[in-house]
Amino acid sequence: MKVFCVLLSCILLTGCSTNGVQDVGSSPTSTPADTYDETYRPQVHYSPPTQWMNDPNGMVYFEGEYHLFYQYYPDSNVWGPMHWGHAVSPDLLEWENLPIALYPDSLGWIFSGSAVVDHDNTSGLGTDDQPPLVAIFTYHNDPLEKAGRDDFQYQGIAYSTDRGRTWTKYAGNPVVPNEEPIRDFRDPKVIWDAEREQWLMVFAAQDHVMFWRSDNLIDWEHLSDFGKTYGAHGGVWECPDIFPLQVEGSDETKWVLLLSINPGGPNGGSATQYFVGDFDGTDFTLDPDFATEVSDSAAVWLDYGRDNYAGVTWSDVPKEDGRRIFIGWMSNWDYARDVPTTVWRSAMTVPRTLSLQQTAEGYRLFSNPIAELTQLRGAPEMFHGEPSLELTTASGAHELELVYALDESVTTPFGVALRNAEGDALEIGYDPERKAFYSDRRGAGANDFADSFAPDRTWAPRLSSSDTLRMHLIFDRASVELFADGGSTVVTEIFFPIESLDQLTAVGDNPVIEGTSYPLRSIWKE
Ligand code: FRU
Repeated sequence: MKVFCVLLSCILLTGCSTNGVQDVGSSPTSTPADTYDETYRPQVHYSPPTQWMNDPNGMVYFEGEYHLFYQYYPDSNVWGPMHWGHAVSPDLLEWENLPIALYPDSLGWIFSGSAVVDHDNTSGLGTDDQPPLVAIFTYHNDPLEKAGRDDFQYQGIAYSTDRGRTWTKYAGNPVVPNEEPIRDFRDPKVIWDAEREQWLMVFAAQDHVMFWRSDNLIDWEHLSDFGKTYGAHGGVWECPDIFPLQVEGSDETKWVLLLSINPGGPNGGSATQYFVGDFDGTDFTLDPDFATEVSDSAAVWLDYGRDNYAGVTWSDVPKEDGRRIFIGWMSNWDYARDVPTTVWRSAMTVPRTLSLQQTAEGYRLFSNPIAELTQLRGAPEMFHGEPSLELTTASGAHELELVYALDESVTTPFGVALRNAEGDALEIGYDPERKAFYSDRRGAGANDFADSFAPDRTWAPRLSSSDTLRMHLIFDRASVELFADGGSTVVTEIFFPIESLDQLTAVGDNPVIEGTSYPLRSIWKE
């Protein structure tokens, strides 16, 4: 699809004053890319036209559009004063870039947060005919931090009554000041708690999350805290999300709390853990089956790869659709600033549908690529036995479905490698002895930009014990996403080959029984 590079119009917005609060953000200065075809440029993933991007923010569905905002620094390809970049999509596949939605102002830089449709205009910021979109975000006040104070982060809101095209900061910001104060006090996710008819806000406060409630998105009351004594604590807690989810095949609904942590991930650096429990309108209580104490090893991870961070889910997906749709930032704070791209830095994962299943290990989240992704597929190529294929895609992106038969005779690692004529190889496989999947990007191209990038294989425990093992893989020019066994084990990793990896070969003693490969068309081309 056409890339709409309307960043120029941001210049017009620069410096505008929102209710007396002076915007201090600057306009993008680099030339927007209009080809989306540079080396390493993702073809089936969202990436910003130019410059630095981190967390996805404010994802909300409204009047036929999925909004994706993101942490954005328009002046550089490394992190800096944060803005909210903005894109919209009718189908979560093809994205139209819109002007920057939120600029820093005299209260601070605009850190991560969420957005909701205020259907009943509880905030009074819209009208009954035109419900406002309300964004809830963290202000990060850099001068206060530099002055050594602890109260430099607090929550603010902004609203739009024109389908997210322009935003006004609320005049009474901050709506949640940092009174205690707590140094890390950020990343509000707001949901409508239908059962209690209240707005519920969860945000991260260093080593726990806080729950707050409101009737109008403006006046907030502290309800409870969760997490000091649960889960992984190898780093600071960031970017929580909370939502109810029906357990598949039952009438039961449990509450899921997503929680990103940096560092302290299972394979190093940033990663996202989750908790399953109940929410009674005030407190989140962990399910008795779930890991019950502070433990890095007992933590339950959404994705074991090194490159899925700060992900949260879309608000206001229509009831008749009913999906819980997730997207994450496809990078890792260990090396995000060093990866070898210059025009833009980093991409999002493919959007994923989350489901909750009761397993032998207790409740577990399953992630799978959204069904819409199949619309990008070209003609399938099927194979039986060991794969040895030339992957000819114009885009460099493709999808693979592999099915293996396991029995006791299969004891050594097996899988596939994607290679190129330059000798780069990315390996994805399974080690029956460790009962774990692995990804190995050590030989997959550039990796000397950061010691933490490819020190070792990435390992991901297999949850399923079925003797049919399935690997569903989405390859883009510079990333792989593994959804194993129906989405019960997930690995997302980026890599930087000298040339695109276009040959598929078998690794190990391959018990593959069948496979299908699909070329994927680019989301950035007609
Ligand atoms: C997570 C994070 C958030 C913060 C944002 C700043 O990656 O550190 O906690 O709001 O990035 O860009």
